[in-house]
Formats: sequence, C-alpha cells, structure tokens
Amino acid sequence: MKAIIPAAGIGKRLRPHTLLVPKVMINLAGKPIIGHIIDAISAAGVTHLEIVVGYKNDQVEKYVDLHYSSLKPNFPLQVERSGLGHAVLQGLSDSDEPVLIILGDTIFDLDFKQFLNLNQTTLAVVPVEDPRRFGVAEIENGRVTRLVEKPDAPRSNLALVGLYFIKNQGILKRAIERTISEGITTKGEYQLTDALQLMIADGEEIRTKTISGWYDCGTKESLLASHKFLLSTIQTHNNLPSVIQHQPVFIHPDADVENCVIGPNVTIARNAVIRNAVLANVIVGRYATVENVVLKDSLIGDSAIVQEAARTLNIGDFSELKSY
Ligand code: G1P
Repeated sequence: MKAIIPAAGIGKRLRPHTLLVPKVMINLAGKPIIGHIIDAISAAGVTHLEIVVGYKNDQVEKYVDLHYSSLKPNFPLQVERSGLGHAVLQGLSDSDEPVLIILGDTIFDLDFKQFLNLNQTTLAVVPVEDPRRFGVAEIENGRVTRLVEKPDAPRSNLALVGLYFIKNQGILKRAIERTISEGITTKGEYQLTDALQLMIADGEEIRTKTISGWYDCGTKESLLASHKFLLSTIQTHNNLPSVIQHQPVFIHPDADVENCVIGPNVTIARNAVIRNAVLANVIVGRYATVENVVLKDSLIGDSAIVQEAARTLNIGDFSELKSY
C-alpha cells in the first residue's frame, strides 16, 4: 500500500530548532521523526512512499533515499504552502487503490497493521478538551456526519489527529481538486478536512477510530513528550564507566560522555560532548557541547555550546544560596 507523508512544513513553533533543519528531520531517540514514522508504517505493510516536501526538502530527500530506498520514495514538491489538502493532492493518483495519509511530524502508538486492513475510509480521532485548533468530526452511530476544520464553536470534541485511511484515493483526489476549482478554503487554505466533508456530502461512508497513543511534535513540550514515548519503545544500553544512567536514554556510541548523570528521557546524538553534567528530559544534538550544567526539559541544537564554569564558593554557616 502507498502512504502519503506531508512533510513540507516549516515548523515555526519549534524555532530556533527548525531554522536549519526541517521539523520532520529533528532527531529523537537516535533517528529523525520521519524515520520513526516510516519504520512503523513499513513494518505494517506500506510498500511505497509519497513524501510531500517543501521547506529544506533536500535534507528529507537525502535521508529517506539513503535509508528507505526499498520503499520507492517519491518526493512531490509543494511549492506554495496552500494547505494540507493541497499537499496531499501532490501524492494522490487517479487509482481506486487505498492510501494511508500520515502527518510527517506526528508519532502514533497504534496497531498500524489493523489500521491498514480496514475496509472503509477511517479517520483517527482523539477526544480533546479544546478542539478549536483541529479538524473536528461529528458522528452518529459510528458514522461521520460532518467534518469541520478548526470550528469556532465545535459540536464535538473528536479531533482529527493526522492519520487517515482512505479506501479509494481517486475519490479523495477529485474531492480535493473540487475544493481548488470551487475555491473552498478554510483559514485561507485548501483543507483535507473540507475535501473529506465534500465526500460525506456525496454519500461516502466515513468512520472514525479513537486512538490513545498520539504524540504531535509541534512545540517544545510536545516534542519532549514524543521523545519520552519513543525512548520507552527502544532498548539501548551503552556502558560508560563514569556515567550514571537512568533509563530510558539513548547515547550515541560516537558521543563523548564523561562524569555525568544522564536520564531519564535523554537523547545524546552522534559526536556530542557532555562532561560534568546532570541531564533529565533533554535532547542534545549532534556535535553539541554541554559542560558543567544541570539541565532539565531542554532542547540543545546541533553544534550548540552550553558551557558553564564550575563555581567556587566561600559561604558561611547558616547562609543560603538558591537559584530557581
Ligand atoms: C491539520 C489538519 C487538522 C488536524 C491537524 C492535526 O491541521 O488540517 O484537521 O486536526 O492537522 O494535527 P494543522 O495542525 O496543520 O493546522
């Protein structure tokens, strides 16, 4: 089966980490986000990839070509960012074969095999407190009656989370083309949600699947949460004599780590140098240097340098020195 992975976005909310690297190439637990996604879907039976690229497309193409050439990747270029519907259209064909659509910046903990074997168009949803920043599905007797992209007054709390099994891609292609030819937009963009709503209005039966393992990577906080989940799924142990490790951690064999307490939930990428540091819930990029610090909940980019001097203190009895 073919999968379309929209991966053209800039990742503005993750700046400065996306100034040099596209969001889908941010390294979590030893691999770019898009690598984790491709591993999961190819293990479940995806055999062919359409990766819709845009921002810093060369990095995505180089990585996927190097590691996943057996999945015959194509890289349609979305020149103008005109919305998710427009992005997905670049990877669709007129065939009536099914297709999986999965956002390139979202990690799902899900039985993909089961999802790929559905026999009806199905949208993954999660009940959320505030659905206004999502596509929202209204359902009756298990069937979607209406889809609205980012409604001001949502009539359901079921958010679309970026995973779509489409039974007949030709039908979706024509629906997206219709949004474009008829100028149907929401928030100024051609939306996948609006095209799916046209299909429903035409009588297409669409269902939802409520999932629990959904990790988007759009902000620093959600990226760290996804990272924590991914680390919990991989087993690595790198014995380093002067390092205390609280699992789960990923320390690249080519990182140089000395006199540290590392973990839980820490990735140290290739060629990073870490000395005299205590790190928890931290991602350290390639070739970064981190010395003499205690860090938590932090992202340290590739080749960044965080170096503090060890302090000397001359502090009297009953004095207090605290930093928060
Ligand atoms: C897109 C979709 C939206 C969906 C969301 C999930 O929105 O248009 O329907 O709920 O992804 O992350 P975006 O986040 O790109 O604005």
